[in-house]
Amino acid sequence: ARRVRVHHLRQAKERGEKITMLTAYDAATAALFDAAGVDTLLVGDSIGNTMLGHATTLPVTLDDMVRAGRAVASAARRAFVVVDLPFGTYEEGPAQALASAVRIMKETGASAVKLEGGRRSAAQIQALTEAGIPVVGHLGYTPQSENALGGPRVQGRGDEAAEDLSQDALAVQEAGACGVVLEMVPRELAARITEFLAIPTIGIGAGPDVDGQVLVWTDMAGMTGWSPRFARRFAEAGALLREAAQEYADAVRSGEFPTAEHTFEQ
Ligand code: KIV
Ligand code: NA
Repeated sequence: ARRVRVHHLRQAKERGEKITMLTAYDAATAALFDAAGVDTLLVGDSIGNTMLGHATTLPVTLDDMVRAGRAVASAARRAFVVVDLPFGTYEEGPAQALASAVRIMKETGASAVKLEGGRRSAAQIQALTEAGIPVVGHLGYTPQSENALGGPRVQGRGDEAAEDLSQDALAVQEAGACGVVLEMVPRELAARITEFLAIPTIGIGAGPDVDGQVLVWTDMAGMTGWSPRFARRFAEAGALLREAAQEYADAVRSGEFPTAEHTFEQ
């Protein structure tokens, strides 16, 4: 299948075709989701929580993102691959953001980077865009600011907060972003932003009236006992893996595995 490129995302919005995005953190899952026809794979800094055993995204490093980004980009044949800039690798300004994003682009083979923040990150988005690096914005609940935001909470409720978020969305677009993630935003506000922006909006906990949807794959596949309210468990992959591991261990202990078909003779 033809590679998804940045202009296809804009085209999808214009045609009213929903954009699909899932996170991926390794080559194994990236190959599966790419083969499933998911349009865009996000190497999210949620790798901190989902894979690296951190409580938050804050400890994730650029090295972590480069290694995961390379794995995902190497496995994706069709999908547009976006890699998150982790906390502490772009906030200082355009020069720091550019150095971080250039490293991602050089060392992973990804198609774009994503960073959090609206007006506060506009200069960074502009610098990357001018350097030829497609940028996806991220507004609403932004996990890298979870200490300031007081944990995962809906953002943009009330007239003043809604106006603020709308201004941030405009700033992200004007700085040159090719799309924006809206996380935990009331449906009506996400719909309004989607209407006034020319660039596609990808929602997570932002309702159905956006240009695309993204989920963390471990939430989507039911890998853990708990998933957020905005996620649907499309499978119970956690239970499936646990049962497979149990059956394997039982078979080894009972001597039922391996049999002749798994065994090499002299
Ligand atoms: O890191 C991540 O998985 C994300 C998505 C939740 C949008 O940024
Ligand atoms: Na992220």
